Formats: sequence, structure tokens, C-alpha cells
Amino acid sequence: MRTIPLEVRGPAPKMAPSETATELNRMPSIRAFALAGLALLPYVAFAGDSERGRDLAWQYRCMTCHGVDGRSNDPRYPRLAGQKPAYIIERLAYFQAEIEPFNEMNGHARPLTEDMKRDLAAYFSGQRL
Ligand code: HEC
Repeated sequence: MRTIPLEVRGPAPKMAPSETATELNRMPSIRAFALAGLALLPYVAFAGDSERGRDLAWQYRCMTCHGVDGRSNDPRYPRLAGQKPAYIIERLAYFQAEIEPFNEMNGHARPLTEDMKRDLAAYFSGQRL
């Protein structure tokens, strides 16, 4: 690669700072807030609402098989209490895909939206096993 001697390069061109950048610099609290928001985004996007999850668990009768708060004592039904949220969501997606055509869970998972799955997962994972 050919290098240009320093003297020939001259001063670096002055760049006008962008309007938004200067605005944000004048409002450090807003900038800090925006940065905090960005940093929290992954958690906010994936964490469900546990209270909504509890309501859904009753509404969709998950408790009738999986036990109150997901602590089933019936060997036919897995315990959901204390289970990892990602695992619960993954399993529900698996049932929704109907990979096992006659799995009892397929019909129960079918009506659940992505938000509902996250809320249910947040709820059950937060229960003591
Ligand atoms: C009629 C009984 C019944 C109802 C109601 C029911 N389930 Fe299930 N569920 C099962 C059975 C049986 C399995 C085991 C299926 C398997 O692993 O193949 C299961 C498995 C699961 C699993 C996987 C657990 C694991 O350890 O792999 C999750 C998650 C789950 N159910 C969530 C729910 C949710 C959420 C609801 C309510 C929307 C619900 N279930 C309603 C019977 C039920």
C-alpha cells in the first residue's frame, strides 16, 4: 500500500456535528435515559408479565393438569413451577408445531400467542417447585 507523507495530507476536514447529536448532548439526562432503555431492551423484549401469565394459566386451564402454580403431583403431568422460561416457551412452540400429531398438549398450546407464551413462562418459572 502506498503511504501519503503527513505533510501532504493536510488538516482533517471539519465535520459538522449532526443536529440530533448536538441536541442529545445538551440533554444528558435524556441521553442517559435512552441509553438505559437500549441496554434494557433484551430483557423487556423477552421477559413476560407474570401476573398476566397467572390469569392465563387459570383461563386456559393449565392448572387442571399441571397443578396449582404448576406444581403437579400427578406423574402424567410435568411440573412447570421453577422451570426455565426459555424451556417453557420452546416446549410450547414445539407443541404448536404439532410435531407429535396426537400429543395432548397440541390443542392447549394452539391458541397461545408469542406474548401469552412469554407471560405463562414468566409466571410458571417464578413459582417455587
Ligand atoms: C389436559 C391436560 C393438560 C392441560 C390442560 C395442559 N397441559 Fe401442558 N402438558 C400436559 C401433558 C400430558 C404434558 C406432557 C407432554 C409431553 O411431554 O409430551 C404437558 C407438557 C407441557 C409442557 C412441557 C413440560 C416439560 O417439562 O417438557 C409445558 C411447557 C406445558 N405443558 C404447558 C402448558 C400450558 C402453558 C398449559 C395451559 C395453556 C397447559 N400445559 C395445559 C397436559 C396438559
